[in-house]
Amino acid sequence: MQKVTLEIDGLKVSVEEGKSVLDAAKKAGVPIPTLCYHDELEPFGACRFCMVEIIRGNRKRLVASCVYPAEDGLVVRTNTDRVKEIRRMIIELLLPLAPAGPLRELARRYGVKRSRFESEDMQPTHCTLCGMCVRYCSEVVKYDAVSFVGRGVSKAVALTPEAQDQCVFCRKCYTICEAGRFPMLAEEYSV
Ligand code: FES
Repeated sequence: MQKVTLEIDGLKVSVEEGKSVLDAAKKAGVPIPTLCYHDELEPFGACRFCMVEIIRGNRKRLVASCVYPAEDGLVVRTNTDRVKEIRRMIIELLLPLAPAGPLRELARRYGVKRSRFESEDMQPTHCTLCGMCVRYCSEVVKYDAVSFVGRGVSKAVALTPEAQDQCVFCRKCYTICEAGRFPMLAEEYSV
């Protein structure tokens, strides 16, 4: 397999063609925070928390590192002011929905004390809509017992009613849900 060499935060790293910038950063030992990425799942590109800045000549662009392919000669910056600003915005958007779990630590790390999007009507769902439980059930367990329902601000994850018998024995996605939504959801459905 052909290799490509890129530079991430000043470190040169070579990876096989087809690997993502996130894969290359892991190999280089450069941490990039993620919310919807999991080693066992196909990259999803949903949360945008893994955004990095790529530089080619005079042009700079923001890309989601988990789905952007590593390319020869690419220069990547993982912690610029623009990148940090985007991560702070994502934290603010999600914090009212999932105030515990990984977001609390990320908020502390990025200096987000409170969210501008908090409102009295907004109840925490403990879900960041990362979709890991949906994809894990579909891609790994191959059961499709969890799915997205609703749209926009009403979007949520739900169990497929006819799949609950299977869920009683499986429960593999419990460990995957860092925001704490899935165990609560399973309790609501008594599985
Ligand atoms: S981890 Fe890349 S978009 Fe979520």
